[in-house]
Amino acid sequence: MIILGIETSCDETSISILKDGKEVLANIVSSQIDIHKEFGGVVPEIASRHHIKNIAYVLEEALEKAQITLKDVNAIAVTVGPGLVGALLVGVSYAKSLSYALNIPLIPVHHISGHIAANYISHKDLKPPFITLVVSGGHSHVIKVEDYTKFKILARTRDDAAGEAFDKVARVLGLGYPGGPLVSKLAEQGEDTYKLPTTKFENMDFSFSGIKTAVLNIANKEKENLRKEDMAKSFEENVCKVLIEHTLALMEEENIKSVALAGGVAANRRLRELLLERTKEKGYKAYIPELKYCTDNAAMIASAGYYNYKAGIISNDLALNARASINIEEGM
Ligand code: KG4
Ligand code: ZN
Repeated sequence: MIILGIETSCDETSISILKDGKEVLANIVSSQIDIHKEFGGVVPEIASRHHIKNIAYVLEEALEKAQITLKDVNAIAVTVGPGLVGALLVGVSYAKSLSYALNIPLIPVHHISGHIAANYISHKDLKPPFITLVVSGGHSHVIKVEDYTKFKILARTRDDAAGEAFDKVARVLGLGYPGGPLVSKLAEQGEDTYKLPTTKFENMDFSFSGIKTAVLNIANKEKENLRKEDMAKSFEENVCKVLIEHTLALMEEENIKSVALAGGVAANRRLRELLLERTKEKGYKAYIPELKYCTDNAAMIASAGYYNYKAGIISNDLALNARASINIEEGM
């Protein structure tokens, strides 16, 4: 089955073509990072306009790469949400037009289920149930993947997402956008010497606004004496440890021995390393997606779309709409 996936939830216009949910025939990602960089973050209106401008070219390139024509496509999968509603609408409208014109099924996909499905592409042996740590610019969740289309949230952030905290700390350190990779790069030259707070709740929920404020306060106090490399390292180490330890505790509670990493922050070198180290100690199996499938891409959307299709999750009319927020537990 050939599925064409479309992803436009934030600042990446991406179209991919997958065979049977796992074999990537094409994965084209047109990033707008250079455009949004000068504003220090994604400007929603500009993102929507660029999706409109780029999407037809991205489709053309994907078909060329996969060496197929639209006639070979069996279904269209598209990110419905969560994300920037104007940006999502571009992908959803485009997907609806394609499915109508080609008379093929339209499959709605939850962006986070896409991030999780990135692991099915990179690891052909991975099957539910497993635990996943989803860390992106908008989400920090520990989720139990009960089946390909059935999810239970075990822990979530009460304030900032992990990626968002990385981006904000990058701004405090004067590093630019997107902050995650820049903080991580600087951290490689630093030592974990700053003492930063960890917020704890009675359950395994996360909170990153306290540590972000602590970084800001120390930066304001120390000014030019701030050891930026050490601060980057201390911040990264603290956040990665919290993410991994909470995930391990929930694996124990649920008695599940497989864990998959997902989302843009899954690209973080230290997080990947720590997960591998700690799961090895515990005798757990860890799955980490290839770097290119960690940050936003349509291959993961086409993969999640394949499993949705098999579970009968199909949009039967042209009323499908973009949704800025959707709980993954609702299904899709
Ligand atoms: O999943 P994603 O591409 O978009 C969302 O769905 O949000 O994630 C983007 C986030 C950004 O906050 C970015 O700073 C973060 O992922 N990120 C990283 C790294 N690469 C991307 N954070 C830490 N270390 C990285 N290497
Ligand atoms: Zn994402």
